[in-house]
Amino acid sequence: MSQIKIAPSLAAGRLLYLGDEIRKLEEAGVDAVHFDVMDGHFVPLLTIGVPFLEQVRAVTNLHLDVHIMVTNPDDVLDDYLNAGADTLSFHIEAARHAHRLCARIKQAGRRAGIALNPATHWQNIEFLLPELDQVTIMTVNPGYSRQQHLTSMHSKIREFANFCRAENYAIDICVDGGVNLGNAGTLAQLGANMLVAGGAVFNGGNMVDAVQALRKAASERPV
Ligand code: DX5
Ligand code: ZN
Repeated sequence: MSQIKIAPSLAAGRLLYLGDEIRKLEEAGVDAVHFDVMDGHFVPLLTIGVPFLEQVRAVTNLHLDVHIMVTNPDDVLDDYLNAGADTLSFHIEAARHAHRLCARIKQAGRRAGIALNPATHWQNIEFLLPELDQVTIMTVNPGYSRQQHLTSMHSKIREFANFCRAENYAIDICVDGGVNLGNAGTLAQLGANMLVAGGAVFNGGNMVDAVQALRKAASERPV
């Protein structure tokens, strides 16, 4: 199995010190920074958005994995592309013209992603898979960091990973929500190759150690 990608969720960091947090993530050798955008409508909270993304883009070359949890991805997609998203994932539940949005992301030379709420079957995006670079399977109801991981999503991850393997789709299978040292190995074994982590990385301790521990946990077979 190729090495798992670790993408810490910046919004779970200390918002007043994000410059420092980004430098520590660089030091920790993360594969991407997961940038959560919440609009106060699609999900309850309101977090960082376009101007913030521009500033993050200006200070790092890390891959920016932008996850927009917004009701109007069709209207705001270009803003996030212009602000420097490397991968842009929108929610299928909110998109009016998902295929068009994927095409716009690809035309901009970026990676196209779709995120699935817990109640959404992966089969809903089967027709879009040829356009996609990444599928983010939510293992919490999006809206907050540090929620309980939903193990009921594990069969979805396994089924989707098996389907991609059988159909030869080279899509990153990303899991987002409550990822921790206790479930990282299981998630990798189910077929995920990318893990988002908020609370597990920004836990008040040493971030370099936290990322390393997560990588190690993901590489080990669960007991
Ligand atoms: C959920 C967000 C996640 C979340 C990750 O609404 O999309 O990226 O903040 O944080 P943890 O790992 O703490 O669940
Ligand atoms: Zn996210």
